[in-house]
Amino acid sequence: MKILVVGSGGREHALVWKIKQSPKVKTIYCAPGNAGIAKDAICVDIVAVDIDKLADFAEKNAVDLTVAGPEECLVKGITDEFAKRGLKVFGPNKACAEFENSKAFTKRFLQKYHIPTAKYEEYTDPAEAKTHCGAFGYPAVIKADGLAAGKGVIIAQDEKEALAAIDQIMIDKQFGASGDKIVLEEFLTGTEASVLCFLDGCSIVPMESARDYKNIGDGNTGLNTGGMGTYSPNELFDAALKKKVQETILEPILAGMQQEGLDYRGILFVGLMIREGEPKVLEFNVRFGDPETQSVLMRLQTDLVEIMESCNEQTLSKIPICWSEDAAVCVVLASGGYPGAYEKGKIIKGLNETEGVTIFHAGTTVQGENIVTNGGRVLGVASLAKTRQQARKMVYEAIEKICFDDVYYRKDIAK
Ligand code: AMP
Ligand code: GLY
Repeated sequence: MKILVVGSGGREHALVWKIKQSPKVKTIYCAPGNAGIAKDAICVDIVAVDIDKLADFAEKNAVDLTVAGPEECLVKGITDEFAKRGLKVFGPNKACAEFENSKAFTKRFLQKYHIPTAKYEEYTDPAEAKTHCGAFGYPAVIKADGLAAGKGVIIAQDEKEALAAIDQIMIDKQFGASGDKIVLEEFLTGTEASVLCFLDGCSIVPMESARDYKNIGDGNTGLNTGGMGTYSPNELFDAALKKKVQETILEPILAGMQQEGLDYRGILFVGLMIREGEPKVLEFNVRFGDPETQSVLMRLQTDLVEIMESCNEQTLSKIPICWSEDAAVCVVLASGGYPGAYEKGKIIKGLNETEGVTIFHAGTTVQGENIVTNGGRVLGVASLAKTRQQARKMVYEAIEKICFDDVYYRKDIAK
């Protein structure tokens, strides 16, 4: 088979790495890819949102399956556009991608199907939003309705901060049209867990659980990021919690989708907040998580391409999906300054000196003889070992050998 992976981050490198292990696969293309992906796939200079060019490429090169990494191309309808040309995509269609494109859409769905989630209200008028911003007390959670690269959620500690957040999102349009509407939510406390699921329209199969570290600073302090590290399994997920998530969240999601006429095939990322064993849905994403994928795929033993095909062919329930009992840890090395402003073009050294780890590239590119930084999250260093402590140790030992100017990483991932 010929596979095209769309995207350029650590998640896409992990997808390429896993797809490469499939005996079914002869050629892997990645658009646009990065310096690390270029070692495992043929990189093609097309950006992830240029659906027409991607389709032209897939047609011309007889690509058998295109794997959509980031949400933007799914929201833009890559699956539907490719289908018009008889091309296959792994990833939900535009109607289903609305679960990530609109937080209000997801909240309405969750409420309608009695799936546990935070209380919410939605507003399109800033004045009205300001009158009601204290409706659930403080802290208040204020979210831009649309896509905002993981930055559209503001936790306001008091009314002053809430009013400022509404101005920022709805008046100053910090996230553009994504802020035409906001969702106001009750603040939930507890521990977060990410559950990535495979769906084929008739069944929903959770992958092994992961824990993501969203804040930039140790001890979960500072600004939210795309994710600074992950580990899998998430120890919170004992048999009782798995059962509860299956029965009160995943099964009602599938039933609700079927009721709504949404034929969801691909990945659904369910973000959960768990308190005293009770899970509530924080958000849906319609694609693999980054950097959850890096940890979770290290543990996947079944051929990922076979699973993806089964999702498209609605035969997911027929294939056994096997996982390693070992623990995986992934730590992100970022550019100093991220998630704020940062510099690019720093030479990365020591990439070939590490042992026992897999290095997933994110924001990297080739410049002459060197691999240099090219984004906020630069690398994900991942390891699989008998215990999480062992995996963690290997990752942090390897990180000591890698350097670039202003490198920043959290020291407490998987501790
Ligand atoms: P989201 O993009 O909706 O997942 O939100 C990003 C992050 O904001 C989540 O991972 C949580 O850390 C936090 N968050 C979102 N919604 C809530 C909520 N209702 N209560 C507390 N924290 C939240
Ligand atoms: N790591 C969170 C996400 O991918 O949205």
